[in-house]
Amino acid sequence: MSDARMTRQKASDVPVPEGDRSDHPLRGGEPFRFGDQPVVETPGGLRVPKLGLGTYELEGDQCREMVAEALELGVRHIDTAQGYGNESGVAAGIAASGVPRDEVFVTTKVDNDNHDPGELTQSVEASLERLDTDHVDLLLIHWPVHWETINATLNTLAQVQGSGMAHHIGVSNFTIEQLDQVAHLAPLEVLQVECHPFLQQRELRSWCVDAGWVFTAYSPVARGAVMDDETLVEIAAARSTSPATVALAWLLAQDGVIAIPRTGDPEHLRANWEALSLELSSDELARIDQLDEGRRLIDPDHAPW
Ligand SMILES: NC(=O)c1ccc[n+]([C@@H]2O[C@H](COP(=O)([O-])OP(=O)(O)OC[C@H]3O[C@@H](n4cnc5c(N)ncnc54)[C@H](OP(=O)(O)O)[C@@H]3O)[C@@H](O)[C@H]2O)c1
Repeated sequence: MSDARMTRQKASDVPVPEGDRSDHPLRGGEPFRFGDQPVVETPGGLRVPKLGLGTYELEGDQCREMVAEALELGVRHIDTAQGYGNESGVAAGIAASGVPRDEVFVTTKVDNDNHDPGELTQSVEASLERLDTDHVDLLLIHWPVHWETINATLNTLAQVQGSGMAHHIGVSNFTIEQLDQVAHLAPLEVLQVECHPFLQQRELRSWCVDAGWVFTAYSPVARGAVMDDETLVEIAAARSTSPATVALAWLLAQDGVIAIPRTGDPEHLRANWEALSLELSSDELARIDQLDEGRRLIDPDHAPW
């Protein structure tokens, strides 16, 4: 265990920040360095690299290799979760890349079985062990399950942040109604939900802009479905690029949006990375705006919609 981890305060010893965030122990000063890579910034001081790597279903050697390859390419943002079973693979990839830990923005998510306050804190400690780090940059509640105890869960999430184990906190898969109910309970700064050209999430994006939160688009290439869309294929052909690159460039052009495409293919990784340098015209953006059809791909039984 690292010295930093040994000396961190117990979560319960740290006051829960509420309301005015200016006195929060972690505010003031940005500890991350991402070179000249584009970031989304919040009024609260959070800076997140706009294009990250998702890691769902990347396991073992493949996870290590893809994380290392992404970091070598310039990616500085890795998204994992307790439920993906690959936090150790992410750590191995960061180590193999040689990129210093403090130059990588690492997100993990609290699993549905770990919402109880004691379990939540312990589960984050276990995540940090697997990730071989003394903190994650962002810690999310993965799904809004156990709604009857959401106050205690978010209170504990804030305490975990106050202890230094998570520099920033947020939620995933919450509806607008749920966000309105809980946004004041903890210094949350990020919403992560499914978003791509076929499910554009305009209302949730606008909620995040108004609240000063970062909006993270998961499944941003619609699990590969963007490759078959006529409009995206046409725009991609005209730009000599991939429809996936076009879909990601459209997302990154939206206010306050970041994207975390997942790939196990080095060629696809490079295509996705190109999205940062593809500037779509207003006509191209408007054509993609027309593709919204409410097509949701991630819809488990415990989803709140
Ligand atoms: N918070 C949540 O509940 C939640 C839910 C879902 C996802 N997520 C996060 O978001 C990340 C991304 O979402 P996702 O994995 O669901 O879907 P995604 O990134 O939209 O799609 C991944 C699929 O698209 C393919 N793909 C990626 N880039 C491509 C390219 N350039 N050309 C062609 N195919 C490409 C991949 O295949 P190849 O491997 O062959 O490239 C893979 O099958 C996840 O890995 C996870 O980190 C979070």
